[in-house]
Amino acid sequence: MNPGLNLRQSMNDYAGTDPLRRAVGDVIGALAHASVEISDLTGNGALAGITLAGITGQAQGRNADGDIQKDLDVRADRIIRAALEPLPIAALASEEAAEPEIGYPAAPISVAIDPLDGSSNIDTNMSVGTIFSILPTPRDIRATFLQPGDAQLAAGFFVYGPQTSLVLTLGRGVDIFTLDRGENAFKLIRPAVLIPPDTAEFAINASNQRHWEPPVQAFIEDCLAGTSGERGKDFNMRWIGSLVAEAHRILTRGGIFLYPADAREGYRDGRLRLVYEANPMAFIMEQAGGAASTGRQRILDLTPATLHQRVPLIMGSRNKVRRLDRLHMSPEIKSEPYPPLFARRGLFRN
Ligand code: F6P
Repeated sequence: MNPGLNLRQSMNDYAGTDPLRRAVGDVIGALAHASVEISDLTGNGALAGITLAGITGQAQGRNADGDIQKDLDVRADRIIRAALEPLPIAALASEEAAEPEIGYPAAPISVAIDPLDGSSNIDTNMSVGTIFSILPTPRDIRATFLQPGDAQLAAGFFVYGPQTSLVLTLGRGVDIFTLDRGENAFKLIRPAVLIPPDTAEFAINASNQRHWEPPVQAFIEDCLAGTSGERGKDFNMRWIGSLVAEAHRILTRGGIFLYPADAREGYRDGRLRLVYEANPMAFIMEQAGGAASTGRQRILDLTPATLHQRVPLIMGSRNKVRRLDRLHMSPEIKSEPYPPLFARRGLFRN
């Protein structure tokens, strides 16, 4: 695809006259439309409270899954629902609603969204975003969001940062578009994005270190040992606390992101949601040559049991994700809760 290509043109080229692809392209177009409004809203910061009645950027309750909900989460959810409303979508699931909304049950596609990921960071002027996953509608509509991530037709996320960007996969690679504010149109800036298979950068919330499982402890300990450890290489650490921003960084210069399961109450399955966070990210990572895993299973193989199910997520540069998989499978590490000398395990190095 040509750099500079308009998103609309790119969707037309992809869809041609195929009705299913046209439905996918229409959803992506509508989400892009909504994202411009959400980008303006988040970009205005506290000014939004002056120019838009009722917006404070402050917490106003908890969502279906118990997370703190800000009025911006609710507003972003409404903007997306309004943009998708005219389209024939069978079901729409959102982080902000306990149950999916049923639209046109006979429609071939359904959509899952996290309207404003990272919203807890919004008052710190950090990048936040919208994540989406487009699925085929199965015969039994109640099973729509219980399909494994491998069923996804398309997935992507918008990042509202210094630039507003769209990272998109239609199952044939990953493309990144940036909003041209002058023309109010998304333009292709990075076609066929590839994640380097190796990396010297990791991202994890290290404040939870004492709660991690041994394989994660082992991996991070090796990274921290740097040139003085057996790996003989220094690593760099980043933690933004905003999944879309971390994913965008990995797609730009490689890296590995971990939000593992840990021993804290409520974190035994990690923190991130499978259907509208981990699945779209995993689809994007794999399509860009990276990988995504729980440490024990490939994310896209998992069959969700519930809409808001949480899942441990390890994603990014392929060789590092594989290394974590091997650490999770190691009987040596499983049997010892906190083995003292991880550097002995030459078997697990790559
Ligand atoms: O799911 C919301 C989210 O803000 C992600 O964007 C981010 O990766 C994660 O939570 C941060 O969690 P914590 O505050 O525990 O580091």
